Amino acid sequence: MTPSDVKATLSFSDNSPSVELPIYKGTMGPDAIDIRSLYSQTGKFTYDPGFMSTASCNSAITYINGDKGELLYRGYSIDELAQNADFLETCYALLKGDLPTKQEKQKFAETIAKHALVHEQMQFFFRGFRRDAHPMAILTASVGALSAFYHDSLNINDPYHRDVSAIRIIAKLPTLVAMAYKYSVGQPFVYPRNDLSYSANFMRMMFSNPCEEYWVSDVLVRALDRILILHADHEQNASTSTVRLAGSSGANPFACIAAGIACLWGPAHGGANEASLNMLKEIGSPDKIPKFIKQVKDKNSNVKLMGFGHRVYKNYDPRAKLMRETCYEVLNELGLYNDPLFKLAMELEKIALEDQYFVSRKLYPNVDFYSGIVQRALGIPTSMFTCIFAMARTVGWIAQWSEMIAEPDQKIGRPRQLFIGYIPRSAKQGNS
Ligand code: ACO
Repeated sequence: MTPSDVKATLSFSDNSPSVELPIYKGTMGPDAIDIRSLYSQTGKFTYDPGFMSTASCNSAITYINGDKGELLYRGYSIDELAQNADFLETCYALLKGDLPTKQEKQKFAETIAKHALVHEQMQFFFRGFRRDAHPMAILTASVGALSAFYHDSLNINDPYHRDVSAIRIIAKLPTLVAMAYKYSVGQPFVYPRNDLSYSANFMRMMFSNPCEEYWVSDVLVRALDRILILHADHEQNASTSTVRLAGSSGANPFACIAAGIACLWGPAHGGANEASLNMLKEIGSPDKIPKFIKQVKDKNSNVKLMGFGHRVYKNYDPRAKLMRETCYEVLNELGLYNDPLFKLAMELEKIALEDQYFVSRKLYPNVDFYSGIVQRALGIPTSMFTCIFAMARTVGWIAQWSEMIAEPDQKIGRPRQLFIGYIPRSAKQGNS
């Protein structure tokens, strides 16, 4: 990191001495004031719950310009990746820094395919769950359990071990997600097939059964692949920060990804695609939209327009545009041109984008507004939506985790607090 010539000076109204703080320049985006010496110099902390103004790390992986609605992985725009690359090429770029050559891609795809099987013992973990367990609960547990099987790659200080773990996690996620689904519907687990693409293999593990041939159209495979590309990384969001924080203690990568999955599950984050589709179903028909919007605007109602708004994007989420395009393609392919939920979603979007409440707060559709409709059309049940997101985001998590571990002055993440509780008091009975 290069410190800029400009420095920040922090002064206090009580005449305490002012302090000078270095400023770092990134290659793009806002500069960052380095406050690491603030406490030792002043005895004061900064206060920023929710990280509204805090860069928690430096990273060369993903860049977002929220005002422009721009998203880049390793400098490649999300539009170009979605049009010209597939998910494994995107994974390669996120992990290694550049898109692969033809040979690199082939070797990477073969390596991923070879690691797609999970240990045969894993099925016993699944069988311990109730059939109606939420698949995200099963996924969190089963990914955490992987660390019990792969002791040979858990030395996080060895770059080779880190690479092997990254490959294993990316390769096994689709197998585990499909197993969670098969378990919930009482069908036999389907083993991966190494001759299929990442997305085609996943769809086969999800939807085939031993009784008949399985075939899926290229349009649908491509749609799933696009969902995975669009969700692959998103810089320091809540789940990625969770993975980094868990990893900062030296925890193994499987445990860290399990922590990321747990965080992703929340409705304000990865759970929004499920919540968004449920919301559309609840609204039911376009004539109910005005009543629903009224509820959303009522602060006491606690109702949000799910799939709308974003901490970073104050413009149309570029992923939402691509997802809407994919929605068209998939519904056309399946002959569902008049899908009522898609029509309802478009109408809801139109009304919200013209409403002063949303305009003044810069609330636009995010990727989850349309991804639920696409997934539903692909035959993926609502309860599995966040698992698909987790499958995609795994590459971002592991790339960010590897970047952090490789950082020479990496430290355990340990925020401080503004204490607002009791001052010392006696614990003797009657004195409290
Ligand atoms: N519906 C209604 N009002 C909203 C919404 C929404 N979806 N999102 C934000 N607002 C309002 C807030 O109530 C607040 O209003 P106020 O200024 O009158 O108090 C204002 O817009 C600012 O919102 P914040 O909550 O401060 O924004 P924040 O950055 O903290 O939250 C978040 C972002 C969590 C994504 C929020 O917009 C939200 O809950 N959206 C719905 C859930 C969702 O779609 N999540 C997916 C995020 S993308 C992803 O994870 C892939």
